[in-house]
Amino acid sequence: MKIISSIKEMTAHSEELRRKGRTLVFVPTMGFLHKGHLTLMEEGKKQADDLIVSIFVNPAQFGPNEDLDTYPRALERDLELCEKIGAAAVFTPDAGEMYPEGFQTYVELTRLPLHLCGLSRPVFFRGVATVVTKLFNIVRPHKAVFGQKDFQQLTLIRQMVRDLSLNIEIIGVPIVREADGLAMSSRNKYLNESERSDALLLHQSLLKAKEMVASGEKNPARILEQARQILNSCPGIKIDYVSICDIATLDNLGEGERIDRPVLMALAVMLGKTRLIDNMIL
Ligand code: PAF
Repeated sequence: MKIISSIKEMTAHSEELRRKGRTLVFVPTMGFLHKGHLTLMEEGKKQADDLIVSIFVNPAQFGPNEDLDTYPRALERDLELCEKIGAAAVFTPDAGEMYPEGFQTYVELTRLPLHLCGLSRPVFFRGVATVVTKLFNIVRPHKAVFGQKDFQQLTLIRQMVRDLSLNIEIIGVPIVREADGLAMSSRNKYLNESERSDALLLHQSLLKAKEMVASGEKNPARILEQARQILNSCPGIKIDYVSICDIATLDNLGEGERIDRPVLMALAVMLGKTRLIDNMIL
């Protein structure tokens, strides 16, 4: 497995593999890998000849009061996991390599970021779209794999690939959960024991919503009310949003609109100092 930190070397390596007729699949990550990431990589390996992983904690997607400095890092361990899974290369640039002095070009979508996480994280999706575009240009993959846990991110990347004619197939992989239902996330590491148990309410509120729809409830307001009640039963949870929205546009279902098609229920909360998100298709 090659470990590459320079853009020039990464692109040269990908070009060489492409010249040999190999297909490349890419899994971008911010490291501190967990089973969710490994599932993306395993899916990737099924889809192409060579798997390339990137590990880069992208400063452009963190707001000024967010956790860039404390974001968990474990590079040695991450590299071992990538090696074990059979990655052909891991790209580990530093911030200076990705955003050199004088950097001033960003990729921004006009509508999708105006929903859900974009409302409370105003620079997040601009940072994601910019870094993913750069990584695609550097790694030159045929395919790339993203998790559905970040449903809005996946939707936005699919849109961006279409809008910019990037010719990369985007593969979405279902959320990987712990045995008790908590969606896997590098940020789960921040949770203390009692927060870890309170965090189960996220999945429980989504399951309750699904159950309500299955038993015929079509009114999104009633489902949202139930979900809020479940989350608010824990004093440590501060709801950022709980939304039921259109799967493609992420527009909230309007007043009086019925659930008459598959819709996305998504939520974000602060649990102590940790921001957690989860979602489910209803
Ligand atoms: O989902 C993530 O880990 C990040 O947002 C990504 C796609 C690697 C971009 O930094």
